Amino acid sequence: MRLFTVSDLHVDFKENREWIETLSESEYKNDILLLGGDVCHNLERLQKTLLQIRSKFFKLFFVPGNHDLWLRDETYKDSLDKFETIRHFCRENDISIRPERISNTWIVPIFSWYTQPGEGKDTLYWPKKGEDNNNRLWSDNFYIKWPNSKFPDSASRYFFDLNTTMLTEKINGSVISLSHFIPRKEMMFSQYPPNIDPELIKKYDRHPEFNFSRVAGSSLIDQQIRQIGSRLHVYGHQHINRDREIEGVRYVAHCLGYPNERKRGVIKGIEQGLKELIII
Ligand SMILES: [Fe+2]
Ligand SMILES: [Fe+2]
Repeated sequence: MRLFTVSDLHVDFKENREWIETLSESEYKNDILLLGGDVCHNLERLQKTLLQIRSKFFKLFFVPGNHDLWLRDETYKDSLDKFETIRHFCRENDISIRPERISNTWIVPIFSWYTQPGEGKDTLYWPKKGEDNNNRLWSDNFYIKWPNSKFPDSASRYFFDLNTTMLTEKINGSVISLSHFIPRKEMMFSQYPPNIDPELIKKYDRHPEFNFSRVAGSSLIDQQIRQIGSRLHVYGHQHINRDREIEGVRYVAHCLGYPNERKRGVIKGIEQGLKELIII
């Protein structure tokens, strides 16, 4: 049984829907796909895509991303209400959103959010000169709404606690995990610590006032990865593909991303299709 991954399908783009259609109907019938979130803000389209992909694989694991929880043309109380609607849909349609043991391997979906600066020491925040402190360039700022009463600390802490309630069985042996958001600072940069030469930033940074590290992820995710003994973790969100080992864990991002990012060559390796991780 082979294990594949992809994330950030963003099927509001026609080119991305066509990419999914090119995935074979027969080739993956004995295989597992780990799908790392950001499928679509439109629930109907998200559900249609999940079912379409589900039918191609033996098993599909999924965690929602920030775009999946956006409130735009739908009527939900808040983004947590939408999260629960998605979880219910997955449970009803045999899409795996809980830890499961397959053969001798545990596959563990980790729900997550980013810890913003000021929300706790688990933030991945890395200061940047001239950044906008109000996240005005970040769409979550407009489309994500949390129920205040349920978030005494932060959204990242809420999902961390929710995962803890799902880790009821003894997870041991070979463990593989999946999140949408980034688990460690190292993953945000091509080199770590990053090169913050202002000339380089001027040349390559399209939005110098936008600081991605404010909304990238949380070290709470890594805490959970290591707690369950995961040796391979897949994630998405940044639309930069990586495959690196850090302190005994292999971290892999394999995003489809936006068509214009692929044209600009920002997203590498996706032209070969899904990423095959291991055989279990
Ligand atoms: Fe994305
Ligand atoms: Fe995302």
